[in-house]
Amino acid sequence: MTLSRPRVLQYGKMPLTQLDAELAQAYDVHILSQQADPQRFLAEHGAQFEYVVTSAAMGLPAHVVNALPNLKFVSSFGVGFDALDKDALLHRGARVGYTPGVLDDCVADLAFALLLDVTRGLSESDRFVRSGNWSQGRFDIRTRASGKRLGIFGMGRIGSTVARRASGFDMNVAYHNRRHVEGSPLRYMPSLLDLARWADILVITAAGGEGTRHLVNADVLTALGPQGFLVNVARGSVVDEAALADALANQRIAGAGLDVFEDEPHPLPALLGLNNVVLAPHIASGTHETRRAMADLVLHNLQQYIATGRPAAEVPWSAAQ
Ligand code: 8YV
Repeated sequence: MTLSRPRVLQYGKMPLTQLDAELAQAYDVHILSQQADPQRFLAEHGAQFEYVVTSAAMGLPAHVVNALPNLKFVSSFGVGFDALDKDALLHRGARVGYTPGVLDDCVADLAFALLLDVTRGLSESDRFVRSGNWSQGRFDIRTRASGKRLGIFGMGRIGSTVARRASGFDMNVAYHNRRHVEGSPLRYMPSLLDLARWADILVITAAGGEGTRHLVNADVLTALGPQGFLVNVARGSVVDEAALADALANQRIAGAGLDVFEDEPHPLPALLGLNNVVLAPHIASGTHETRRAMADLVLHNLQQYIATGRPAAEVPWSAAQ
C-alpha cells in the first residue's frame, strides 16, 4: 500500500532551485504564485492545506494565513521572520520553523566584504578601471579598515560571528543590543546613539520588525559622523533609508555598504547615483554551501513537524505557544 504524500502549499519559488524539486518529490506540492488566480485558489482549496513552505523574503501575509483554516505548520527558508504575520499565525495556532545558525558565517563574511569594499572603495575602483579612467590619473586614497572601532548593533548569532571576524582585523569591538549579553567579554553600549558616536564603522545585525523599525535614523547617522561608515546585512527596515541617502549625499557619513533595503528589490533611487555607497541585492546567505544547509533545514523542519509535532528549529514566539 502506498501512503499518499502530504499536501504542501508552497508560497512561491524557493531561493534554491534544487529545493523546489526536492519538495515536489517528497510532497504533493501546490505553488501558490503559479496558480492562475492565487486568491481564487486559496478560496477554493485553502482548507486542504496543513503545511506551508515559504521564505524569509516572501514571508506569509495575514490574508494567506486567514485563507488556510487548517494550517498547522509553516517551514520558512531563512533566519528572519519579520515578514511572516505573527498575529495571524498565533491566532491560527500554527507553528513556524526557520533556519537559524546555518547562515551566520556567510552573512558575517558579507558584512566584512561590504565593510572592506566601502572603506577601501573597491567597487568604485572597479568602475574606475573599467571606464578607462586609470590612464587619466590615480585613484583616490581611502580609509584603513583594520584596527578601527567596530560597533555592532544586534548581538545574536550573526553579530557575534561578525565580532569574531573583527578580531582578525585587530578591531576594537563594542555592541548595542536590547540587553547586555550574559558572559560576553565585549563592551556593551547602553544606547545605539552611544555606539554610533563611539564607532568608526557601525554594522547592523539586529532582527527586523516593528521593534527595530527606523532605529538607525538621522540622529544615529549624525552621531556616526563624517568619518563613519554604516554596513547593513540585517533588514532594510532597521534604517531610515531616506535619512541614510541624505546623509550619504551630504557627506554626513563617509559611506555605506548595504545588502538590504526597505522596499526590496527597489533601493531608494537617490542611492543609485551615489559613489560612497556599495549596493548588494540581498545576497548575504547566497552561497551554494549555505543555501544548501538552509534548504536541508527547511526539509528537516517539515519532516520533524509531521513526524513529531515539533520542528527542529522553531521561531521563538511560535515555540512559546
Ligand atoms: C535569505 C534572509 O536571502 O535568512 C534570512 O532572513 O534574509 C536571507 O538569508 C532569504 O531568506 C531568502 O529568502
